[in-house]
Amino acid sequence: MVNNTNAKPRDAWGSRLGFIMAAAGSAVGLGNIWKFPYTAGESGGGAFVAIYLFFVIFIGFSVMLTEFAIGRKTGLSAVGAFKSTDRRWSFVGIMGVLSGLLIMGFYPVVGGWSIAYIYKIASGLLSTPEAIGDSFGGFISNPVQPLMWMALYLFLNILIVIRGISGGIEKAGKILMPLLFVILIIVSVKGLTLPGSSEGLKFLFSPDFSVVDSNVVLAALGQAFFSLSLGMGAMITYGSYLKKKENLVQNTAMVTAMDTGVAILAGIAMFPAMFAFGMEPAAGPGLVFVVVPQLFAEMGGMIGLLLALLFFIGLSVAALTSSVSLLEVVVSYLIDEKGMKRPTAVISSSVVMASLCVLASLSLGGVGPTLFDTGAFDIFDLLTDKIFLAVGGMFICIFAGWRLKRDELEKEITNDGEVSFPLFGLWYNLVKFVIPGLIAIVAIAGIMSGFDSGKGAIMVMGLVIIGLAALFSKKL
Ligand code: PFF
Repeated sequence: MVNNTNAKPRDAWGSRLGFIMAAAGSAVGLGNIWKFPYTAGESGGGAFVAIYLFFVIFIGFSVMLTEFAIGRKTGLSAVGAFKSTDRRWSFVGIMGVLSGLLIMGFYPVVGGWSIAYIYKIASGLLSTPEAIGDSFGGFISNPVQPLMWMALYLFLNILIVIRGISGGIEKAGKILMPLLFVILIIVSVKGLTLPGSSEGLKFLFSPDFSVVDSNVVLAALGQAFFSLSLGMGAMITYGSYLKKKENLVQNTAMVTAMDTGVAILAGIAMFPAMFAFGMEPAAGPGLVFVVVPQLFAEMGGMIGLLLALLFFIGLSVAALTSSVSLLEVVVSYLIDEKGMKRPTAVISSSVVMASLCVLASLSLGGVGPTLFDTGAFDIFDLLTDKIFLAVGGMFICIFAGWRLKRDELEKEITNDGEVSFPLFGLWYNLVKFVIPGLIAIVAIAGIMSGFDSGKGAIMVMGLVIIGLAALFSKKL
């Protein structure tokens, strides 16, 4: 396929289903199954879920549509998409590449834990339920073991991305995504049949807004961006491979619905069973890795073992189809902007990511540098999840609303008038006015309340990095 602004032939998605599966594969990942449940658990449950859903519908959907439209219109990846319109805007793409690098500085660590748990469960972890909690703590703070699993995880990413977009990513997504849905449904049904499980549903779905402060609101906004893979150009890059005849609105709706469905399903898979067993919802990042095995151990027998195995296979697969898109953002920048060959681009970005992951993993054992009492793992997470993605999304909207022309966008989204999108005016005004304003307010309030801990300073540092990116991006 040859694009309008780009004379180079460009890979395209082999089929419509392939695109949906790959984009949903990018969205559905550790964010849904690892991060969503523990963040909801720590942030008071129902109220967090309600605010998260509000952000998904009113911000996430619109930003995703914007990213797909920019990507397909320019036929370029994150940086090129902005640069080809106006060089001054390339910092938004550069920020995206930076976010990709930083998220890949901790994501493969957790992806590695997930693969490790397949092995641990197969080799008898469930037979000593009392030891599961300590075993997780001991495992992630071990200086060597998690690094080996991280390396294996990163290696799998390299294998997929090196084969290129329709060969590798598309095939992986198509086979592995449906498997994940099935596993989560089985696990949820099992959890819901336990006595006392209804308390878990209440925790997830009946909001108590008295527990909400600006921290919770920013956490919900960050979660919406992280989970939908927005704000860093991943969906711009994926959109750039999208054929001109595809219906962008429909694709956006399907990806958003699938991602949100999986997050809610992951919540239903976990909380009812946790409450049934009298466990703690605010268990933190270890929640999935402690509670799920414990839950299946108490269930006992072959079924418990099998479900636990399937769960962690599903988690690993979901993580993999997401991290390949993170890697792809960095790789396609190096290919499109720096003229690198794909294998060179993949290997060189993976080396940087692996180094960051080593810092992140060691920080969990209290080893390595800290900043404001925060280790590398938490710094990378905080910077990207709370600042870069949301602020990136804000700039993407400002770019679309104020720099691109309204009729250009309308043409792109409606395929030159062939697809009807009666809500175009609403979408346009959301993107131009409402979303940038709302993100700015939520981010500022969240940063202010972050000063109660060391987090505020790190978030301000994130803003400074964005400023520097804006200043120097013309050189990159
Ligand atoms: N959406 C992914 C998840 O929920 O795990 C993470 C992610 C992928 C974030 C790609 C951002 C991105 F560009």
